[in-house]
Amino acid sequence: MSLQGDGAAAEPPTAEMESTASDTITVTIGATVPTGFEHTAAEEVHEKIGVDAHVSKDRGRIYFPITTDKLFQVHLLRSVDNLFVVVDEYDHYPFKESKGETLNELQELASKLPWTNALEVWRLNRTLKKKKGYRKGGNGPKLKPSSETTEADGEQEEAAVESQTEVESGMPDTSSTQDAVEAAPEAKVIRFRVTCSRAGDKHSFSSNEAARDFGGAVQEFFQWKADMTKFDIEVLLNIHNEEVVIGIALTEESLHRRNISHFGPTTLRSTLCYGMLRLCKPQPSDIILDPMCGTGAIPLEGAIEFNSSFYIAGDNNDMAVNRTVNNVCHIQKRRADKGSASGLPIDTVRWDLCSLPIRTSSVDVLITDMPFGKRMGSKKKNWDLYPNCLREMARVCRPGSGKAVLLTQDKKCFSKAISRMGGLWRKVHTVWVNVGGLHAGVYLLRRTGAVFGQTPEDIYESRGTVNIQEEVKNENEHVKSF
Ligand SMILES: C[S@@+](CC[C@H](N)C(=O)[O-])C[C@H]1O[C@@H](n2cnc3c(N)ncnc32)[C@H](O)[C@@H]1O
Repeated sequence: MSLQGDGAAAEPPTAEMESTASDTITVTIGATVPTGFEHTAAEEVHEKIGVDAHVSKDRGRIYFPITTDKLFQVHLLRSVDNLFVVVDEYDHYPFKESKGETLNELQELASKLPWTNALEVWRLNRTLKKKKGYRKGGNGPKLKPSSETTEADGEQEEAAVESQTEVESGMPDTSSTQDAVEAAPEAKVIRFRVTCSRAGDKHSFSSNEAARDFGGAVQEFFQWKADMTKFDIEVLLNIHNEEVVIGIALTEESLHRRNISHFGPTTLRSTLCYGMLRLCKPQPSDIILDPMCGTGAIPLEGAIEFNSSFYIAGDNNDMAVNRTVNNVCHIQKRRADKGSASGLPIDTVRWDLCSLPIRTSSVDVLITDMPFGKRMGSKKKNWDLYPNCLREMARVCRPGSGKAVLLTQDKKCFSKAISRMGGLWRKVHTVWVNVGGLHAGVYLLRRTGAVFGQTPEDIYESRGTVNIQEEVKNENEHVKSF
């Protein structure tokens, strides 16, 4: 069933049409969000825009209605990665069995869609961006910083395999025509591309075929020019089993890249950091520690968004500490350039998490992204690191009221470690997330009221020690048998 409806568009609307201030219209905004944090994002939408968001069964997306006067507020959301305006939406699109018929229907769909309102929002959005001094010119995808690419190489590729999602942009390339258009800007030819993302195993067509055929029909209907890299409009064709959503992109690049300028091998998306921070509900004057901060993505997002708390970011790796310092300085400079004198409530330290230079029972929240043992550390080391980490965090954390929010993909090791810490930590809630294709857990723990130093969990017995003792015992038995 289609949820939109401003009438069939037999005549193509123009993308450059003007509207007046009284032309406030209501549209549906779609947002991609970190998988697992859909409800957190919906909560943020309710809090900041005052509307209810619908969480899509296609995980990692939410939809919510806005009137166009609220468009700028949508860009202030911290839990959303990419934004688009919905042209039309079908819960149960009647795909035909044969590929030919389905692709024909997708072609016919292009001229039947209610484009007018979505194009108006796209135009308003562009005006907003220009006012804010955003990048001008083509909307093409930006190259990732090289170190960020390193992370994606390892983690994002697995994402595609895991979710069986195809993403393709397909259109006849008319770049030579585009050179001519650029040379004569007065012609104001709209350049566009169609991006299709498809998930589901019952489709008779590929995302590339859908993008190509639907895109061809869009081109014919609007007389726009296709351009894969320097496009003004990106039309999105999202297909998830029998759900189809057609949209127009409102963001050029994911909003998760907002804070970090110095990337590390496992830099966390700021949108995911925001979700983790919301889980621990920072209070004014809370002392919040990220004891394994890497590039500082979590405490930096906290210092910006929940700035009545104070953040301490630490790591045992010099390069990580330097990156955090550089990231903090970069944001401070950006703020100073804009005339803001306020500093960020954050400090950076080099330390070993297993023996923190922090007073017992003095920290309100510990929040960190632990080494998964894949790209960072090793699964073997985690068997020692995780219990040590939980124990030292329990020491510095305030009994009774303190919290920890911990992200890890090494669920087996974490579960084992936490099961032995019942006297110090209580598991309150787990959010299952997708971190670059890896299924990970964000664990919310509450510090029990037990005084540190008075529970059996305080006694440290490393796996190594146990093994050594066993080896000694075996050796003695071996000696005896001779
Ligand atoms: C998964 S990374 C954190 C990434 C970070 N969230 C970011 O966005 O860049 C884990 C970090 O733990 C640090 N680490 C590992 N063992 C540590 C220890 N014993 N003490 C302090 N930091 C440690 C590593 O150096 C690494 O930077």
